[in-house]
Amino acid sequence: MAKRPTVVHTITALRRAIAAYRKAGDTVALVPTMGALHRGHLALVRAGQQRADRVVVSIFVNPTQFAPHEDFGSYPRTLKSDVAALADIKADLVWAPSAAVMYPQGFATRVAPEGAALAGLEDKFRPHFFGGVATVVAKLFTQVTPDYAMFGQKDYQQLRVVTQMARDLDLPLKVVGMPTVREKDGLALSSRNVYLSELERGHAPVLVRTLKDSATRIKAGEPIEMVLEEGRAKITQAEFALDYLEARHALTLATVAALKSGPIRLLVAAKIGKTRLIDNLAV
Ligand code: PAJ
Repeated sequence: MAKRPTVVHTITALRRAIAAYRKAGDTVALVPTMGALHRGHLALVRAGQQRADRVVVSIFVNPTQFAPHEDFGSYPRTLKSDVAALADIKADLVWAPSAAVMYPQGFATRVAPEGAALAGLEDKFRPHFFGGVATVVAKLFTQVTPDYAMFGQKDYQQLRVVTQMARDLDLPLKVVGMPTVREKDGLALSSRNVYLSELERGHAPVLVRTLKDSATRIKAGEPIEMVLEEGRAKITQAEFALDYLEARHALTLATVAALKSGPIRLLVAAKIGKTRLIDNLAV
């Protein structure tokens, strides 16, 4: 059996482990997660291993990035099987703080991201979300002090927000964005895919299919807004309640009117039944 990674639950134990790595001259990559690990998360661990000597995976279902009506209570919590999966791929350390360790009584400081965090995409439907993400990721960065932090392009706006935050706060690390890992039919892997019924799972790939089709047509010079309108209709016809399908500047997430204002990223969010899915693709 693969060697179990060390699992730490306190700041003191975390600092001790990181200090030992530093003393040995090892570099460190951090993979922040909320657990319920799938191949997408594990690809980030492997990418971390290619860049750094040690890989730390944080597992923390962060209450501050969920609104009261969202799925914080039912979010899958699978620490035991997560640690087993991380043992198989030889991750070094699992940082699994409790909410009381992350947000002790009297906690009173938050990071309030602007720019890409106010692009009118995820922030429009989850106004609390990026404040919660930026605050917890800033804490994870200062707790673990990694050289690299690995994030998925799957959560594209999050990747832009975290990249900007690290730059703005002069945090001495490199944020690395990795490609989205997908199922055979194109559906982006997500911890929330377990919520899908069989029927919903059948409909779900319409998101990636629409992104691909729209990207091809925009690249070929068709008018962006017309392509998006047709894409929106296709997604709605597949039983989804659409939050947005947008074309944005890939770095700033500002609106773009034409191909030449690019690089362009297409971003989609939609709900099927009770499950909200997001995806995105480069044009
Ligand atoms: P979580 O949803 O667990 O995702 C953790 C990391 O895995 C994120 O960087 C996310 O983009 C990446 N990821 C998820 N699905 C992926 C896929 N199919 N392919 C590639 N990467 C994928 O994102 C969060 O947690 C939280 O907001 C967090 C950053 C941990 C802060 O709480």
